[in-house]
Amino acid sequence: MRKKVIAGNWKMNKNLGESLSLIKDIKLAMLNISGKVDVIVCPPFTSLETGANLLKESPVKLGAQNMHFEDSGAFTGEISASMLKSVGCEYVILGHSERRTIFNENDEMINKKLKKALSSALKPIFCVGETLEEREANRTEKVIEKQIIEGLAGIPESEMKNIIIAYEPVWAIGTGKTATPAQAEEVHVFIRNLVKRLYSPSVSDNIIIQYGGSVKPDNSKELLNMPNIDGALVGGACLKADSFVEIIKSAC
Ligand code: PGA
Repeated sequence: MRKKVIAGNWKMNKNLGESLSLIKDIKLAMLNISGKVDVIVCPPFTSLETGANLLKESPVKLGAQNMHFEDSGAFTGEISASMLKSVGCEYVILGHSERRTIFNENDEMINKKLKKALSSALKPIFCVGETLEEREANRTEKVIEKQIIEGLAGIPESEMKNIIIAYEPVWAIGTGKTATPAQAEEVHVFIRNLVKRLYSPSVSDNIIIQYGGSVKPDNSKELLNMPNIDGALVGGACLKADSFVEIIKSAC
């Protein structure tokens, strides 16, 4: 039985003081939530160390939003896997559509990042998703298939238990448009079958596949009730403790 995993992607929001108060509020609210759901917060880099200290005695886990695939060197502005580990990160979001489109990350780079994260004992939340144009051209499955095959190239079966896949249709991110539960479930089933083809039935049965894209307290329950939707990657609605916690509760 797969456990639900709710992750909050804060994106470029919240300075240190604001991060502190949001993490404190989430931590407090979590005291009343049973252990049936895993919760991850992904604040900006500047709040990670403070976040890790605040979350020491809490079940809430910490993730970063990106990293570089090289170990160190002349890469101005970049952050390495070992830097993330050293401040207490357990997870890292990789291949987010904003990284793919605004910062030109391609499948080959994302594959290198996934491998570096795994070899550094960071658990990737690996994002895939189609644009509206691709969906309307009936290319959703082709696009997702390419992102997954190229993203996971060379990653052995033994590492798959450490990867979460997040299906995030680009047209649903930050737009207020959510995939219907049936639309999302259809793609989740496609991803699970693809993972079975690439790895094995047991990897496919156990892998966590989150949905992301305008997940809110008023739509999370019906999405999370779908048999192949194992959690959510939440953007806008994770910036307030109340709405994030409502989504967590709907997963319980
Ligand atoms: P959103 O973002 O919930 O604001 O649509 C989700 C994401 O980008 O991960």
